[in-house]
Amino acid sequence: MEWRHEAYLLTDERERLQLDTVTALLHSTYWAADRSPETIARSLDHSLNFSLLHDGQQIGFARVVTDRATVAYLCDVVIAEAHRGRGLGKWLLTCILEHPELRGCRIDLVTKDAQDFYRAFGFGPHKYTNLVRYPKL
Ligand SMILES: CC(C)(COP(=O)(O)OP(=O)(O)OC[C@H]1O[C@@H](n2cnc3c(N)ncnc32)[C@H](O)[C@@H]1OP(=O)(O)O)[C@@H](O)C(=O)NCCC(=O)NCCS
Repeated sequence: MEWRHEAYLLTDERERLQLDTVTALLHSTYWAADRSPETIARSLDHSLNFSLLHDGQQIGFARVVTDRATVAYLCDVVIAEAHRGRGLGKWLLTCILEHPELRGCRIDLVTKDAQDFYRAFGFGPHKYTNLVRYPKL
């Protein structure tokens, strides 16, 4: 699928994803700064990936891990610094939430400090207690 907004293109086509740029974008974040390029590539292979392009150059990314029926985990949401504050994050989230394979899913996410960004889309506290187990590396 793809969506257009002015000079921006958003696509879920894996072939349009620019791996080196996505790796650099993720390395600029607080949560994936240490993620190896191999781990990033493998994670993309098993996700529904959203690539945001401006004049053919990737400037944003998000991915969803999902069974495409009941549950989805939204993660790795990032817009290149030079393009922030123009409503692109909002547009990215709007398109993701409209995606036909995600419409019936409960969507989970975790954030350190962007709660207000997600609240505008109806995200709130879990109904039950959510637990997590981190890998022992
Ligand atoms: C968070 C991020 C994706 C938002 O993208 P953006 O294109 O700058 O956001 P928008 O311009 O669409 O802003 C939409 C709204 O969210 C707010 N917002 C933006 N970033 C926010 C943040 N980090 N925390 C809370 N609110 C935020 C904006 O003020 C704006 O509010 P408004 O509608 O009341 O004016 C982007 O700032 C980013 O990539 N940050 C670094 C990575 C990150 O923290 N990702 C989220 C991890 S969970």
